[in-house]
Amino acid sequence: MTVLHVPERPVFDTAVTRLFGIEYPIIQGAMAWLSEARLVASVSNEGGLGVLGASIMSVEDFEAQVVETKRLTDRPFGVNFPLVLGDYHQHLEMCLDHGVRIICMSAGSPKVLTPRIKAAGALCVHVVPNLKLAQSAIKAGVDAIVLESYEAGGHVNVDGISSITNIPMVARHIDVPLIAAGGIVDGAGMAAAMCLGADGIQMGTRFLATAESNAPELYQKLLLEAGESDVPVHSRKFHPGRALKTPVIENVLKMEAEDRPIEEVRAFIGRGRAKKAAHDANLEEGIFYAGSGAALLEDVVTVRELFDEILAQYREVVGRASGLMRPRGSAERANGAVRAAHEG
Ligand SMILES: Cc1cc2nc3c(=O)[nH]c(=O)nc-3n(C[C@H](O)[C@H](O)[C@H](O)COP(=O)(O)O)c2cc1C
Repeated sequence: MTVLHVPERPVFDTAVTRLFGIEYPIIQGAMAWLSEARLVASVSNEGGLGVLGASIMSVEDFEAQVVETKRLTDRPFGVNFPLVLGDYHQHLEMCLDHGVRIICMSAGSPKVLTPRIKAAGALCVHVVPNLKLAQSAIKAGVDAIVLESYEAGGHVNVDGISSITNIPMVARHIDVPLIAAGGIVDGAGMAAAMCLGADGIQMGTRFLATAESNAPELYQKLLLEAGESDVPVHSRKFHPGRALKTPVIENVLKMEAEDRPIEEVRAFIGRGRAKKAAHDANLEEGIFYAGSGAALLEDVVTVRELFDEILAQYREVVGRASGLMRPRGSAERANGAVRAAHEG
C-alpha cells in the first residue's frame, strides 16, 4: 500500500517501548547475513529496534558491525546470538564492552548466557516458538519473549502453530513483555498481533524488501513475486525452515516427498546456502529464507517509508475495527428498525 499523505505517527506506550526505551514497538528481527549495520541503524533511527545478527561471524567481523552501527545511530539497538551455532561468550563480552544493552538469543538454551547478561545489567530477550519454551526461558530469567509463529521466515518449529492461536495462548500465561513474530508485513498484521495480546512485533521478511537492506536485487525481486504457495516449510524432519521456492528448495521438497533418507537430504543441503543467497544472489544454489508474508509484499521502500506506512495502516485498521461497533442504544434502535421492517 502506498501512503500518499503521511499522517502524524501515533504515539505508543507499551511494555516493549518502555523496556527498550524506543518510540514504536517494532523490532527488526536478526537475519543471518542480512541484518547489517545500515539496516539496523535505520530501524533504530526511525524509532524501532534494529537487531544485528551474529550468525557465524567471527568476533572481529561482528565487532566491525557493532562499531559501524554505533557510528550510524545513537539510539538503542540489539544483537542476536543463535545459540545452536556456537559459543558466543566472546561475542557477548565484546558487545557489552561496546555498551550494547539488548541481547537477543535464539535457537538454544537461554541459560547459557543469561546470568552473564543480567550481571552486566543488560536485557535478555529470547526467541521461542511456543508456550512451553516461553515458560522455560522466563524461568531462566529473560526479560522479554519473541514468539515466532509458524508463518515466520528462517527456521521454524515443525509443530508450530500460527499466530492467531499462538499469540493469545502465550499472552494469557506469561507476564513479561511479548513480541509477536511471523508473517507480519504491514499495519494490519501489527494491529492483529497487538489485539491478540502482543506488546510489540518483530518483522524479518518485510525488512528484506527495504532500500537499506543488504539483500541483493534478485532476493528482493523473488520476494515481491512470491505468491501464497511460494514460501513453503522444508527439511521437516531435521531442521525445518521456511524459504522461497527456488531450485534448491524444490529439490528438497521432492526428496522429502519421495521419503528419501534424512542423511541424503541433509547432505544435499550441506552448508553455506543461506550465504550463497544473501551475499552471492545465487539462484541455483542458495536458500532464500523468507516468511509467508512475502506473498503480501508489493514494493521495496525505505525504512522511513515503511514506518510511515505501517503506522498509518495500523491507525486505519484499528479505527476500522472500532468503527464496526456502535453505542449500545443506537445498535438497539437499528435492530428495532430492522425487526419493524420485517414485521411490517
Ligand atoms: C533470511 C532470514 C534469516 C534469519 N536469520 C535469523 C537469525 O540468524 N537469528 C534469529 O534469531 N532469527 C533469524 N531469522 C528470524 C527473524 O529474526 C524473524 O523472527 C522472522 O523473520 C520473523 O518472521 P517474518 O520473516 O515472517 O517477519 C531469520 C529470518 C529470515 C527471513
